[in-house]
Amino acid sequence: MPENILVAVAWPYANGSLHLGHIAGAYLPADIFARYHRLKGNRVLMVSGSDQHGTPITLRAEQEGISPAEVAAKYHKEFLECWQKLGITFDLFTTTGTANHRAVVHEIFLRLLDKGYIYKDTMPQAYCPDCKRFLPDRYVEGTCPYCQYSSARGDQCDQCGRTLNPSDLIGLRCRICGAVPRFEISEHFFFKLSAFEENLREWVGGQTIWRQNVQNFTMGFLEGGLKDRAITRDIGWGVSVPRPGFEKKRIYVWFEAVIGYLSASKEWAKLQGDENAWKPFWTGDNKAFYFIGKDNIPFHTIIWPAMLMGYGGLSLPYDVPANEFLTIEGKKLSTSRNWAVWLPDYLQRYDPDPLRYYLSSNMPDTGDTDFSWHEYVRRNNDELVATYGNLVHRVLTFTNRNFNGAVPDPGELDSVSMELIQKARNTLDEVDKLLYLCRFKEGLKIIMSLAQDVNRYLDDTAPWKVIKQDRQVAGRAVYTAIVLISALKTLLYPFLPISSQRLHEFLGFDGEIQDAGWQLQLPPAGQKLPLPQPLFIKLEDKIVAEETARMGSGEAP
Ligand code: MF3
Ligand code: ZN
Repeated sequence: MPENILVAVAWPYANGSLHLGHIAGAYLPADIFARYHRLKGNRVLMVSGSDQHGTPITLRAEQEGISPAEVAAKYHKEFLECWQKLGITFDLFTTTGTANHRAVVHEIFLRLLDKGYIYKDTMPQAYCPDCKRFLPDRYVEGTCPYCQYSSARGDQCDQCGRTLNPSDLIGLRCRICGAVPRFEISEHFFFKLSAFEENLREWVGGQTIWRQNVQNFTMGFLEGGLKDRAITRDIGWGVSVPRPGFEKKRIYVWFEAVIGYLSASKEWAKLQGDENAWKPFWTGDNKAFYFIGKDNIPFHTIIWPAMLMGYGGLSLPYDVPANEFLTIEGKKLSTSRNWAVWLPDYLQRYDPDPLRYYLSSNMPDTGDTDFSWHEYVRRNNDELVATYGNLVHRVLTFTNRNFNGAVPDPGELDSVSMELIQKARNTLDEVDKLLYLCRFKEGLKIIMSLAQDVNRYLDDTAPWKVIKQDRQVAGRAVYTAIVLISALKTLLYPFLPISSQRLHEFLGFDGEIQDAGWQLQLPPAGQKLPLPQPLFIKLEDKIVAEETARMGSGEAP
């Protein structure tokens, strides 16, 4: 029975280019997962979109002297190009600026209001007397009341990860000018988060497959008790509040952005021509996976689940495989100091699969990991090219020269060859289980060790020598190697889709590799093999110096 898998991916703020932290944190693991499930024959809906509201966008617009809508449109377009080039296969990547999103947000808001989970109250809102404006949460900073971190923002503390209200901060100051803001009373809507504390504790405590860091963080968060949260703001950019008297206010970005998962699913359904097509991904025995960075955990394991509990009838997250952070050349990534590798830059100069390979094999799934250009080059040359690419090329060119460009007839297989083929089948089973559990790095490691086994097998059987004495024995070794290469193309497809599709064709298969399924696809003896091209290119050491020189100075895109 095919499963219904919702792959929900964090919505990037459309206020700047994507960098490798985003990719390693959420987009690549989500895509690996989606491709794996599609290959398995499951039904997958992978959605996300540009988060076009919130202070990150308005700050950027102010800096550039253009409208928030223009900022959002520019980066949304860039994001779409990046997904296309990097092979990130969203079923829909939309934005929070659509009429559909607004309608879905309003519907949820009104139902929660109706059920008493949203109520009206007043709240002091920070107002800077020098800047003469209400300050959005991110525009104020002070000391975190929980962990005493001195540069906590009004929405969140970057040290302990807790979500905050500006009035929680001690020693409040305006981030723009440093003046001490005063609080003015303002009427707002509040989400009754406190009402869900018990249910959330039970639900979170009952999770068995969540990553330890996600589970621990969430439990710790619940221990502190849940406070109701204001979900409207005194700002002009965002989703409108569907209540009279609130024309000058907007819904808080986090409250509406998480609803994007649902609104995008509904938009996708409409685009399919079946308004109800989203339902199997949100109800019944569907499984919803949320791919996010660790700074987004509480919104996906507490707030969004509470909203769903309050709304009723829709499935809660099944897993939230949040990744930790990617450091760059040993230092914390910083967009303002241009200490980052920008995705559009990368894609202009290099191929997508080597990046997917390096980030997958070095994924920050259970702890922070580091990206360095030296390691990028080394892994490309020593692993992708030497262990895998050369193996494929050597076998396929040899077949081409010596076996008329067709898969040789193996005759009777010997036990060593049969064992290796059995190992390929076992690896498919093992990696299947790991990918289902979002353990991507471990899966890739096992696949690469299978590639090493094939290299060893070829060293031992040496068909290039044996062919002079015994064509049959050489043909058997080549056949076995081709079978193993076919296993590798399937195993590696979620990670390296572009080279796997090429290899699929080099092995003489037609059509899309995705339709071949998660199984050992045996190339029949006699199947014609087109002339192969190398799958990967060796990179020169000099790019390490070139690329590191670009970082740390100049302006971020
Ligand atoms: N835009 C937010 C960020 O980049 C993430 C939003 S994820 C969502 O941190 F689900 F809330 F949309
Ligand atoms: Zn100020």
